[in-house]
Amino acid sequence: MTKPNITIKNPPKWTRLIARFTNPRGLNSPQKLKQAVQGKIVLITGASFGIGEETAKHLAKQGAIVLLVARSFDKLQAVATKIIEQGGVAYTYSCDLSQPESAKKLASDILEQHGHVDILLNNAGKSIRRSIAMSLERFQDFERTMAINYLGPVQLILALLPSMRARKKGHIINISTWGVKMPAGGRWSAYQASKGAFDTWFKSVSVEIKQDGISTTSIYPAIVYTRMSAPTPWMHLLPGMTTDDAAHVIERAIVEKPYDISPPWLWSAQVSAVLMPTPVRKYMELVFKLTKDSDASIQSAKTSIKQR
Ligand SMILES: NC(=O)c1ccc[n+]([C@@H]2O[C@H](COP(=O)([O-])OP(=O)(O)OC[C@H]3O[C@@H](n4cnc5c(N)ncnc54)[C@H](OP(=O)(O)O)[C@@H]3O)[C@@H](O)[C@H]2O)c1
Repeated sequence: MTKPNITIKNPPKWTRLIARFTNPRGLNSPQKLKQAVQGKIVLITGASFGIGEETAKHLAKQGAIVLLVARSFDKLQAVATKIIEQGGVAYTYSCDLSQPESAKKLASDILEQHGHVDILLNNAGKSIRRSIAMSLERFQDFERTMAINYLGPVQLILALLPSMRARKKGHIINISTWGVKMPAGGRWSAYQASKGAFDTWFKSVSVEIKQDGISTTSIYPAIVYTRMSAPTPWMHLLPGMTTDDAAHVIERAIVEKPYDISPPWLWSAQVSAVLMPTPVRKYMELVFKLTKDSDASIQSAKTSIKQR
């Protein structure tokens, strides 16, 4: 089931200034991007909304052939139409990537139709922020996040790897989250565990496929103002990235092919967690105490109990 329409609030103007220092640097050179993507086949999962949609538009504008994947067919068509109207090339693939068989078929259809994939942007994902007390009757939260954030992308990459290995080239970019590099935070058990599972899998595979000429980049964004972060009301007050900012970060990943990209302050949080584990854990407990489940999260937990 796809999400209902969600209003994405604009962040206050003052956060924009701070955001320049708290988020990863993006690429600001259409020329360099054009050299990197012109005529290249770029598969973007989660291209119907948010980061994926915006990135698809940026890349297509510089001559990439973008293959757009998500479940919402109408929304994908609308994104593709806009790209084509502006002179770009886009193809749409409606696919539920949480179903491994669908992910496998998607890869085989794409290879049959386009021959190969130059760049895979593994971006589709599902976030759940819900306390464990609200999750006791919701085992499906853990199944669903594992299915789309971990198992689906694993199957998609398994099906694309033979072609990339045979060509001895390719670039796989994963949109992870800062959370997987941080000590685990309250209410994020389903999301963080599933994103962490894929992150570990991807890094392990990365060591092997580097030998085959395939590059990988893991991106660890903090907050991006999309329908994913919108249900948590305070998130738009923090200095996050717009989808345009996030697309520029992905552009840098494509051009520079770094191993990973993180917010500049993330290393200090990681070091603190190693040097001061107890105060950091106490801090996490305090944050949990001072915040609450979002109304949307409480509402869906109540609905699932009623349905039983
Ligand atoms: N927003 C943030 O603050 C933030 C922070 C860190 C990391 N991220 C990561 O950034 C990525 C993009 O998120 P976003 O913020 O752009 O969220 P979004 O606006 O909700 O977009 C998520 C995309 O994933 C697609 N998707 C979800 N489930 C799918 C499924 N089963 N099969 C195929 N496609 C599916 C959605 O399309 P359909 O619903 O049409 O299928 C949509 O296009 C995610 O991996 C997320 O974990 C986001």
